[in-house]
Parts: sequence; structure tokens; C-alpha cells
Amino acid sequence: MPARSSASRRTVLRGAAAAPVAGLGLTACGAPKGRPAAVPTAPVDLGAESEVARGGATLYRDHNVVVSRGEDGTLKAYSTVCTHAGCPINKLQGTTLVCPCHGSEFDAVTGEVVQAPATEPLTELRVKAANGRIVAGPAA
Ligand code: FES
Repeated sequence: MPARSSASRRTVLRGAAAAPVAGLGLTACGAPKGRPAAVPTAPVDLGAESEVARGGATLYRDHNVVVSRGEDGTLKAYSTVCTHAGCPINKLQGTTLVCPCHGSEFDAVTGEVVQAPATEPLTELRVKAANGRIVAGPAA
């Protein structure tokens, strides 16, 4: 009985491991097909202003936007669509954004590249705090 149970689990795990590869729709370079918009096309309410601490940054994965706040309280926002091959960046370590596709890293405070292969900075967005909410949108 234990041996049979183990074999069943292995079969299930093997199937689960193969499934995501088929479902992601990756191209040869690893970037997803049908790139998301590089920037929001209209102002978007991201959340409460309190979510972005001074000296910190918050990644809004659903909108492909990162917002940082300087020590003086100044807000900055950038598109988190990687400038290397268009992958949505899904990881924020402190104020460093890490692209899952080829490992490029960006400074969420300045938008600058801190680790290749990307060479171009992130696209800066317009951002403001209004009525306790953070709103970001395309640059003017
Ligand atoms: Fe290649 Fe981001 S798409 S590092």
C-alpha cells in the first residue's frame, strides 16, 4: 500500500510540473506573448497612500506599476514592464525590482537599470496622492 501511494504521488507531481510550461504561452526568449501595456492608458487608483512608506516602494502587480517614496515624501512611479523584452516584473526586494525572465534589476526609486541585460530605464509615470489614495497614469 505505501509503495502504491508513493507512485501515485509521483505521477501527480510529474503532471503538475509539466502543466505550467504549457499554460504560460512563452516565446523562445521567455517573454510572454501579448505583452501588457507598458504604461496605464488612463489614471488608475492604486491604493491607500499609506501603503508606500518613506524610503520604500510598493509593487502593484495588477497594474504593472511600482511607486516609491523618497525620504522627503516625494512619490515616483514607473511601469514595471521590463525594458529588455517586455516581461512583467513581479518581484520587489526592498527598492530593487527583479525581472523573472532574464534577471535584469531596476532601482524602483530612479527607474535606472542596476543589473543587465536591460539597458534602458523603466518608463516613468505621472503619480499623485489625492484624498489619501495614490493615483498613477501615463506621463504627460
Ligand atoms: Fe529580459 Fe526582463 S525581459 S530581463
